[in-house]
Amino acid sequence: MSDLMEKKQRGAWSSKFGFIMAAVGSAVGLGNIWRFPYIAGTSGGALFLILYVVIVAVLGFAMLSLEFAIGRYKNANVVDAFRMEVRGKKVSPIGWLCMLTPFLIVSYYTVIGGWLVKYTVGYIAGGGMFDESNGTTANIFTNFIEDPLWSSVFTVIFLVMCLAVLIFGVKKGIEKVSKILMPALFFMLIFVAVVAVTMPNAGEGLKFLFVPDFGSVAENGGILNVLNNAMGQAFFSLSVGMGIAVTYGSYIKKDQNIPKNTLLVCVLDSLVAIIAGIAIMPAVFSAGLEPNKGAGLVFVSLPMVFKTLGNFGIVVAVLFFLLILFAAWTSAISILEVLIASVEEKTKLSRKASTLAVGAVILVTGIIVSLSQNPSIFGVDLLDLFDKITNKILLPLTSILICLFAVFKIGMKNIKQEFLLNSEATGLAKFWEFSVKYISPVLILFVFVMGLIFWNAT
Ligand code: PFF
Repeated sequence: MSDLMEKKQRGAWSSKFGFIMAAVGSAVGLGNIWRFPYIAGTSGGALFLILYVVIVAVLGFAMLSLEFAIGRYKNANVVDAFRMEVRGKKVSPIGWLCMLTPFLIVSYYTVIGGWLVKYTVGYIAGGGMFDESNGTTANIFTNFIEDPLWSSVFTVIFLVMCLAVLIFGVKKGIEKVSKILMPALFFMLIFVAVVAVTMPNAGEGLKFLFVPDFGSVAENGGILNVLNNAMGQAFFSLSVGMGIAVTYGSYIKKDQNIPKNTLLVCVLDSLVAIIAGIAIMPAVFSAGLEPNKGAGLVFVSLPMVFKTLGNFGIVVAVLFFLLILFAAWTSAISILEVLIASVEEKTKLSRKASTLAVGAVILVTGIIVSLSQNPSIFGVDLLDLFDKITNKILLPLTSILICLFAVFKIGMKNIKQEFLLNSEATGLAKFWEFSVKYISPVLILFVFVMGLIFWNAT
C-alpha cells in the first residue's frame, strides 16, 4: 500500500470563521478572566496595558503565527511535526515536550473546569454559593474542593463534556461547538460588563485598570518584573508553547492567510481580556472588596458581589459562570486535541478509541490532582505544582526550542514561504523573521530565567 493511502485522512477546518473561533476558543480561557484583570491592575494599570499590547504584537503574534505555520507546513501532529534526525536516528524531543505540557496542564485544568460546572449548576439551581450562617463564601468553596467525592465527580463531568465534543473530530466537534460558544461568551461578557460599570463606585475599578500607576510598577518589583509578568501573561493567554497552535495549524487549509488570521486571534484574545477586566474589577470595588485573582477571585470574591445584587445577582452569576465555563471548556478541548491527534496518528486507533484512551489517562490524573486539594490526602498541592512547572519551565523552554527548530531544522526560507502563502505582507514577514530569530528567543529566555529566580512568585 502506498504511503499516501496508508495515511489516515487528517481533519481540516471547514471555514475561516470556524478556525478563528476554535483558535480564539483555545486562547480565551482562565488566563483572560481570572488572571489578566488583576495583573493589569496591580502592575501599572494603563502602563501594563500598553506594554501588553506591544508584547502581543512583537512576541505573541510572532510565536503564534510561527506555530500555525509549522503546523500547516508539516501537516502533522506535534510528534511528527517536530521529528528530526540526530546522528542518523529519528527523534522528536520537542514533540514529546509538546505532549508533556498539555498532559500536565489538562490534568489540573479539568479540576478547575469541574469547579466551574459545580458553581454554574449551583447558581442555576438557585443557590447563592453563600454561607448564610456566617455571611461568607470562602468556606463553601474550601469545603467543596476538599471533598474527595464531589470534587472528583465534577472533574469527571467536565472531562466528559470535553470528550463528548472531541470524539466528533475537528469539523463536527471542535469547530461546530466553538462557533456557538465563542459568540455566546462574548455577548454574555458584554452584558456582565454593562452591569458592572453601572454599579455604585464602579469608577474605582475602572481607575484600577485604566489609570497609569507608576507607584504600582515600583511596588511590583520594577519595570523588569512587570515586563516579565506581561510576557508570561501574553504567552499563556495566546496558548503559545503548548503544541496547540501547531496542532490547530495543521488543520488550516492552504488558501488561508496565516498573518491575518493570527492578528485576529491576538486582537480578539486581548479584547476579551480587557472586557473581562471591565466586567470584574468595577464589581469587586463596588462591593468594597480587595482586588484578587485566580480561584479566590472567581469562587470567593465574586460570589460575595453577586450576593449584594440580590435575585438579580443570581442571574448575573449564572451568566458569569457560564461564560467562564465556556472559556475553560474550549481551552481544555484544544489542549486535549494535541494529545488525541498524536495518539490517533501514531497508533492505529480510531478517533473514538484515541479520544477514550486519552480521556482514561486524564481521568486518573485529573482525579489525583483534585484529591490533592485536600491537604490531608497527599500534602502537596499538585494543581499549583503542575501550574508552576508548566508556566515557568515547560512553556518558555518549548517556545525557545520551537524557534530554534524553525531556524535550524525547517529553515527560515521555507517557513516564511508558508507564513506568506496567500498573503502580501512581505514587509511584516521581514520583521516576523527577525522576531523569530532574535527578539523572541532572547525575550523568552529572560522570562525563563526570571521564572526560575522568582519560583515562588505567582
Ligand atoms: N489561553 C489559555 C488560557 O488563557 O487559559 C491557556 C490554556 C490553558 C489553554 C489551558 C488550554 C488549556 F487547556
